[in-house]
Amino acid sequence: MIELNGITKIYGKGDAEVRALDNVNCSVKEGEMISIMGPSGSGKSTLMNLLGCLDKPSSGNYSLDGMETTTLNDDKLAEIRNEKIGFVFQNYNLLPRMTAVENVELPMLYNNMPRSERHRLALHALERVGLSDRAKHAPNELSGGEQQRVAIARALVQNPSIILADEPTGNLDSKSGEEIINIFEELNKKEGHTIIVVTHDREIASHTNRIIHIKDGKIDHEEVFSK
Ligand SMILES: Nc1ncnc2c1ncn2[C@@H]1O[C@H](COP(=O)(O)OP(=O)(O)O)[C@@H](O)[C@H]1O
Ligand SMILES: [Mg+2]
Repeated sequence: MIELNGITKIYGKGDAEVRALDNVNCSVKEGEMISIMGPSGSGKSTLMNLLGCLDKPSSGNYSLDGMETTTLNDDKLAEIRNEKIGFVFQNYNLLPRMTAVENVELPMLYNNMPRSERHRLALHALERVGLSDRAKHAPNELSGGEQQRVAIARALVQNPSIILADEPTGNLDSKSGEEIINIFEELNKKEGHTIIVVTHDREIASHTNRIIHIKDGKIDHEEVFSK
């Protein structure tokens, strides 16, 4: 489903040039749950942004569900993002003045959907992450782990085939982090979402089927677990 060939990403020009990714080749099959590990600055977020069609590589090819994405314009990339990809970030990125359920409704605002239907789907997404009883709470009335669950519900609400999570447990204590990775595991097993998680935490990574280790913008090695 995901196929990267010779992906290179260079930021800046001349003396300020940074080669964030250097000839990366990898593929991810539908229904896989994988993690990406590597030192700070090794290119993990750059890779996630490319996978999520938030940015384009300087060179190389990225095929997603058989479609070459590197030649598409920004509108078309946005369309693919909406349709196929859900994002979860380290800082949750929730809007503080909205309730949990309103935050989850946000991605559907542009879908031309009746308000009641949006609301119903958002409540269902909160149910899938075990947060039904917090729907009317504002983000600052929720723990970090609960806020991240709201963010996961928001990523899920349009049923993306791929979920990309960049250090989703980075701000959480180990118990809340464990709860978050358990939710991802369940979504992967029960609903078949393909999940890619960046983490510094080996314990979190051990919940996935494969670890891709990145170093200096290159894939250093992979570990595959049989589960
Ligand atoms: N927008 C940008 N402009 C210039 N350099 C960047 C930009 N984003 C990331 N970089 C550089 O690219 C390298 C990889 O960054 P990043 O992908 O964020 O690494 P990681 O997520 O593994 O910490 C780093 O050297 C970083 O400073
Ligand atoms: Mg990063």
